[in-house]
Amino acid sequence: MGMDGPIGDFLKTLHAEIGAITDGAPASYIPELAKADPNLCGIAVATVDGAVHVAGDWDHPFTIQSISKAFVYGHALEVHGRERVLRQVGVEPSGDSFNSIALDTVNKRPFNPMVNSGAIATAELIAGTDAGERQANLATLLARFAGRPLPLDEATYLSEKATGHRNRAIAWMMLSAGMIERDPEDVLDLYFRQCSYNVTARDLAIMGATLANDGVNPITGDRALDAEYCPDVLTVMLSCGMYNYAGQWAYEVGLPAKSGVSGGILAVIPGQAAIAIFSPPIDANGNSARALAACKRIAERFGLHLF
Ligand code: DON
Repeated sequence: MGMDGPIGDFLKTLHAEIGAITDGAPASYIPELAKADPNLCGIAVATVDGAVHVAGDWDHPFTIQSISKAFVYGHALEVHGRERVLRQVGVEPSGDSFNSIALDTVNKRPFNPMVNSGAIATAELIAGTDAGERQANLATLLARFAGRPLPLDEATYLSEKATGHRNRAIAWMMLSAGMIERDPEDVLDLYFRQCSYNVTARDLAIMGATLANDGVNPITGDRALDAEYCPDVLTVMLSCGMYNYAGQWAYEVGLPAKSGVSGGILAVIPGQAAIAIFSPPIDANGNSARALAACKRIAERFGLHLF
């Protein structure tokens, strides 16, 4: 394919093109996210060689939201192993919205770790003997992927904690089904925190390049995830990372990816690079309209589809 060449110029042109897209609106169900400036648009590409190319609002911070789910899933696998994690969360696309209050009827598991139910179940698997240790391990995990400590956006964390009753319903349902064991409020607190860390498009591209690089951060050289589990994370991103658009995404773009309601999309080119795009207006599936369009154009331009 070849991500080398005048990539910076290409990203600048792409940024101007997708800026003209006016579809979607910033997420409003989390009050703090509704305040986002809809004009923001940042792009970053990070390679496994440690090069980073950027355009637009690449340094504007936004909460990582659901994109965190991919990294926490990797951590859960590393700490507990596949068999244990699979008892608590499946790897099946749900074909349903990200906040669906539904478990797999056959085995009572959440469908996969990329939807809220599965991510809440996965948050329970974060290592640590008490809440403080688990919070610290979560922060360390994300920092190793990003190559710097990520700040928690207190306002978004508190906003979500105050209003996230649908996630509460999911957590209590999973307690009743025997899928989680700890106090749902404790598990939710960690989940709300994990969604509320601030990243920039540049951070996110580096986090994705770490997955592309078998778990080693290409800038710091630090290992963030055991290489053994990178394919697990990337596979679930490919099949489930874009919610009920996942099938169409795999068909059209053909890269492992994860989106978040604050307007980020992270797409990984295994062995090569990662693309991170941030623009707050999201479509009916919860995916950033501009980021989606940009990913399609990049994949097409550089022939990135895996198949
Ligand atoms: O739990 C929630 O609803 C949010 N913290 C994260 C959801 C999210 O990013 C889903 N993305 N499309």
